[in-house]
Amino acid sequence: MSRSFFPRFAFVLLISLGLVSGLRAALSDEVLATDWSFFKGDPAGAEQPTFSDSTWEKVTLPHTWTAMDENTRGFGWYRRTIDLPAQSPGQRYFLRFEAASLVADVYLNGKKLGQHRGGFTSFCYEITDVMKPGANQLAVRVDNTRFEDIAPLSGDFTIFGGLYRDVHLLKTDGLCINPLIDGAPGVAVSQSNVTPASAAIKVVTALSDKRATKTAPAAVQTTILDATGNPVAAQTTPIGMNASSITQQFALPKPHLWNGIADPYLYSVKVAVVSGGKVLDTVTQPLGLRTIAFSKTNGLTLNGRPYRMLGVCRHQDSAHGWAISKADQDADMALIREIGANAVRLAHYPHSDYFYELCDRNGILAWAEVPNVNEIRDTPAFTENARQQLRELIRQQGNHPSIFAWSLWNELGLNAEPTKLITQLKQDAHQLDPSRPTTAAADGRVRDKFPNVCPVTDILALNKYPGWYEGTPESMNGLLDGFQKFAARQPVGVSEYGAGANILQHEQNLTTRPAPNGQWHPEEWQNTVHEADWAAIAKRPFIWGSFLWNLFDFASAGRNEGNMRSINDKGLITRDRKIKKDAFYFYKASWSPEPVVYITSRRDAVRLVPNTPIKVYSNADNVQLKLNGVPLPGAQRTGVIYRWPSATLRPGDNIVEVSATRAGKAVTDRVVWKLDPTAKVPLPPAKKGATGHDAHVK
Ligand code: GCU
Repeated sequence: MSRSFFPRFAFVLLISLGLVSGLRAALSDEVLATDWSFFKGDPAGAEQPTFSDSTWEKVTLPHTWTAMDENTRGFGWYRRTIDLPAQSPGQRYFLRFEAASLVADVYLNGKKLGQHRGGFTSFCYEITDVMKPGANQLAVRVDNTRFEDIAPLSGDFTIFGGLYRDVHLLKTDGLCINPLIDGAPGVAVSQSNVTPASAAIKVVTALSDKRATKTAPAAVQTTILDATGNPVAAQTTPIGMNASSITQQFALPKPHLWNGIADPYLYSVKVAVVSGGKVLDTVTQPLGLRTIAFSKTNGLTLNGRPYRMLGVCRHQDSAHGWAISKADQDADMALIREIGANAVRLAHYPHSDYFYELCDRNGILAWAEVPNVNEIRDTPAFTENARQQLRELIRQQGNHPSIFAWSLWNELGLNAEPTKLITQLKQDAHQLDPSRPTTAAADGRVRDKFPNVCPVTDILALNKYPGWYEGTPESMNGLLDGFQKFAARQPVGVSEYGAGANILQHEQNLTTRPAPNGQWHPEEWQNTVHEADWAAIAKRPFIWGSFLWNLFDFASAGRNEGNMRSINDKGLITRDRKIKKDAFYFYKASWSPEPVVYITSRRDAVRLVPNTPIKVYSNADNVQLKLNGVPLPGAQRTGVIYRWPSATLRPGDNIVEVSATRAGKAVTDRVVWKLDPTAKVPLPPAKKGATGHDAHVK
């Protein structure tokens, strides 16, 4: 089987399965996952082919050296040999890194290919002139120390170090789709005038021609395929002498629209560079045709219809840090779907191409952002790097239909005045992508300190934690109305809200908030906060979307609270993805069409006192509760919340059972609570009220 046959076959197969995006070159795109050697440190001469790495740790990518403690910020080296064939004339090879945190210096055979500054975006180097037949030594120095010119300068999340996403070896012909422009795929797809009757599509293909003789006629052959892989439009455009790009315009009649979770219909755009009947290079990108509009009074419309974003926030974090596999990402997406969300804020930096692809395929609208978190510097070096990171994000991910906005900052209340920088970034974003609005996540600190930056973006959203860092959960109502007035011109959303919860800590009948930086984060209070916050958000149609913070507990090296170190416990699911906290089911009952009936406080399984409230989340009818086999009447219902304010447990085991039906489907839940007044269980600290104001308090 020839080297080029298999990938072409694989490509056809992937197309027919609808798994089309993320593929760069059909001719050859090999992921270098195995056979890496890693050393945590900075040994002299590690870039040299003669250097011995025989004692280094053998690792596979994705990899990070950071465990839980940010003290592990520093340098690490990765080395690997790449066996390359003798080049046939005109062939070109490239190395494409999906990300390296934070700064990477890349060497092949001792020669420096380049340095990339910024931890979340792809970069690509050509190795054609540096490689040789046989073994080639690749060496990468990765540095995740803090740099004054690279965002993020700070943030409530651990900065993991390493080659934590895939590395690709690309092979093309001398004439290829240029992979060297800001790490982008080289094909930019944009859409305009999208209606049920037609859609205008523009495809711009960047080219790089290093053929020895450029006389052989070549062309860009672009095909738009429907979701089943059938071509629906095609164009072939000859490549003129020295052309650095080719622009093609398509008019697609009666387009099948990408319509969120109800119908995330995807076309794909396959671009091939051809010459003399031979395919020299190909790139395939997703195409979802949709219109998205924001209004100050009516929120969001998708394809002309009101569409409220029911959103969650996510970090690229799991129990093994940022080194997450595709399977990890699939699992996260499945949980986003399960809770019934239709939108995700991918905080606080660009996430992997694969996750945006998952959003496309699942109809999940995605908030994409750059890591301008907490603070910036007013220096030419910081500005240049911030512009680079934004440019890379937009060029690399701009084809994903799921992305609805480019977010330029999050809570920029520290240090330098950010208005000049953010105004510049907004101009850059509009120039690179006139089709999407810019947004930002504002908090009280930035409003007080740098109010001029808030009106810059096209739309705006609020990070607020009523019931956790401040006030009562119900104060969300007034905060939202105040925010709508404050953002005089901008349509407003809610970019963060929530509360911490430790699944091992429980307290019934809690009426005041626990200290956010204290060691007591009872799960029940997280429920109370989300119930009230969501009620306030849900009844305000002017809000274009909301994103609860956070779907998952995540690593935050600076934290020590809720009886856990280095964890932000505002997740609705534990960091290992094993336990869904109660609040997960509050949203599932509120958002998902699936029947839900769920008894809260199920982990408060050993009780010291007989009297207890019982609370059930359900979107079903006829919710019937039994305690020890005896029906318990008198439920008080508010939306999906059913409360029995006072039940009496008997000594020993108590069986709580609930049943309900939704659309004819019966659902049940059951827990066992033991009443044992002498048991040893975690107890709340003496009530001191909500004191603690630490670095995380807004
Ligand atoms: C912020 C911030 C997050 C942080 C969260 C919290 O507003 O944007 O990065 O994790 O609040 O305090 O939990």
